[in-house]
Amino acid sequence: MVFTLKICIIGFGTVGRGIVELIHKKNLDIEVVGICARNCCVYDRNGINLEHLIKNTAGLPLEKYPKADMALDTDKMIDTKCADVYVELTPTNIDHGEPGYSFIKRILSNSCHVVTSNKGPMVLHSRELKQLAKKNNVELLYEATVGGAMPVLNLVRENLRGNSIQSIRGILNGTTNYILTRMAAEGAPFAQILKEAQELGIAEKDPAYDVDGIDAAAKAVIIANEFFSKDSGMKDVDMTGITRITPEFVSLAGKNGFSVKLIVEVSDNVLRVAPRLIKKSHPLAVDGTLNALNLKLDMAGEVTVVGYGAGKYETAGAVISDILSIKN
Ligand code: HSE
Repeated sequence: MVFTLKICIIGFGTVGRGIVELIHKKNLDIEVVGICARNCCVYDRNGINLEHLIKNTAGLPLEKYPKADMALDTDKMIDTKCADVYVELTPTNIDHGEPGYSFIKRILSNSCHVVTSNKGPMVLHSRELKQLAKKNNVELLYEATVGGAMPVLNLVRENLRGNSIQSIRGILNGTTNYILTRMAAEGAPFAQILKEAQELGIAEKDPAYDVDGIDAAAKAVIIANEFFSKDSGMKDVDMTGITRITPEFVSLAGKNGFSVKLIVEVSDNVLRVAPRLIKKSHPLAVDGTLNALNLKLDMAGEVTVVGYGAGKYETAGAVISDILSIKN
């Protein structure tokens, strides 16, 4: 298919801004016709001037942009069907999935494609949303919800076709991995390192979501529903966080050749998040904010992927990859 794909971005936070900057900088063949924030939208059917937008929205909310239209809201932008792909980037809410859930339903019902980085709707309503996409013959892509820039969903879908997955195990939360890595290196106390992780900008707004294992559990649910045809929810995850792990324990493990990691385990009958001892020589023993997943497959055997699960351009890159896959 050779045409310029039109997109409308819903949610102008870190990832939304990252996407706009990358499309502009890399001169990608993607036309941004709409951008919506909570109380306004910018719309230009011929393509928004991204250079002007980037310059004039740096450090400012979208409503301060002179071309922002306060009379336009997201529902209206969805109903105009101004874009081929709507990029849904509103904040994750794991309890009710809103506002992303309603937006995605509306977009799919209008027979437009959806790319999202929002875990909430995919944790709570994946079966319904996938069926709605199928019924309307459009794509619903969400690579960025699991492992950010580290390929997982599309890797299995595209490159490991025909394989049956026996189990998946790994690290899906960068904040806890950073905390555990720093504890091992310096024996620094939990609270101090958590503060630094927040400063890195990868921790959730409420860091309990990271350290209690909720964020990793949400990603485990998405994986279980994707690869094991489950209709699982958060209540099905056997979840333990890292709040009771002490620097002394991490140090003792280190002296014995092990790293402590918050490990997600998913198989046909297991859905678990818990701290585990991983041999330092094992491919999953990655440090810092990295994520890593080890997949056991019937044909390919073991495949391990490592990458950044969060970050402005890393996550934006995963979203852009999904957008471009629709174009191709
Ligand atoms: N708080 C998450 C993490 C961000 O630390 O991995 C990505 O979902």
